[in-house]
Amino acid sequence: MEKNLQNELKKEAAIRAAEFVENDTVVGLGTGSTVKFLVDELGRKVREENLSFTGVTTSKRTASQAESLGIKIVSLDSIPRIDLTIDGADQVDNNFNGIKGGGAALLWEKIVATNSKKNIWIVDQSKLVDRIGSFPLPVEVIPFGALHVLNKFEELNLNPVLRLTENGKKVMTDSQNYIIDLHLNQIIDPAKLSNQLINTVGVVEHGLFLNVVDKVVVGKKGQPLILENPDK
Ligand code: 5RP
Repeated sequence: MEKNLQNELKKEAAIRAAEFVENDTVVGLGTGSTVKFLVDELGRKVREENLSFTGVTTSKRTASQAESLGIKIVSLDSIPRIDLTIDGADQVDNNFNGIKGGGAALLWEKIVATNSKKNIWIVDQSKLVDRIGSFPLPVEVIPFGALHVLNKFEELNLNPVLRLTENGKKVMTDSQNYIIDLHLNQIIDPAKLSNQLINTVGVVEHGLFLNVVDKVVVGKKGQPLILENPDK
C-alpha cells in the first residue's frame, strides 16, 4: 500500500478510536505512528472539548508526545487499573491474534494491555491478514548472553536477526534490552510458538498478542471498520 494512503488510513482509524475515550477514565496509550495520530487527536480533544482523562504510556516516546500536548500521564504503578488501552499493531489475523513490537515497545505494551479492562487496536487495512508471520516477530531479550539466545533461535530455524539502528548500533528498548526479529514468513501455531519463546531463558517477552484485543478499528477506504472479538 502506498505510504501516503496508509498514513491517511492510520489517521482515520486513530481519530475514530479516540471517540472511545471517556471522561475521568485511565487510558493506556500505545506506541507507533498510528498511535501518534491518536495522541494528537486526544490532545486536541483535551484542549478543545474539555476531555479529561489520565494516561499511562507504553513508551517514553508516547509519554513525551502526550505531555507536550497537555495530557496528564502517570506511572502504571500509581493507578489501580486501566480502563481502556488503545494501541497499534503490525498484523492481525481473523482470530484476533496479532504481532506487535515493530516499534520495539512490545514489553511495556503487553504489560499495559494485560492490565487493561479493554483493549482496542488501530490499524490500516493492509495489516489484516489470514495468517500472521510475514511481519517479522519481535522478541525482547536481555543483553547478557543475547547472542546465545540468537544461536538457539538459529538452531530452531526461526531465522533470527538482531535489530540494529540505522547507524548499525543494537536497538535498545525502554527497558534497556535488545530486540531479535524472527523472520518466519508464516506462523502456523501461534500458541505453541508463544510458549516456546517465553520458556527460553533470556527472553523477556515476545510480540505475539494472542486473543488480547477486544476491538480492532481498521482504517479503510470509505470509512473505518470496527471488528469486535467474539471471544471477549
Ligand atoms: C510498537 C508497536 C506498534 O503498535 C506497531 O509496530 C504498529 O506501528 P505503526 O502504527 O507505526 O504501524 O507494536 O512496538
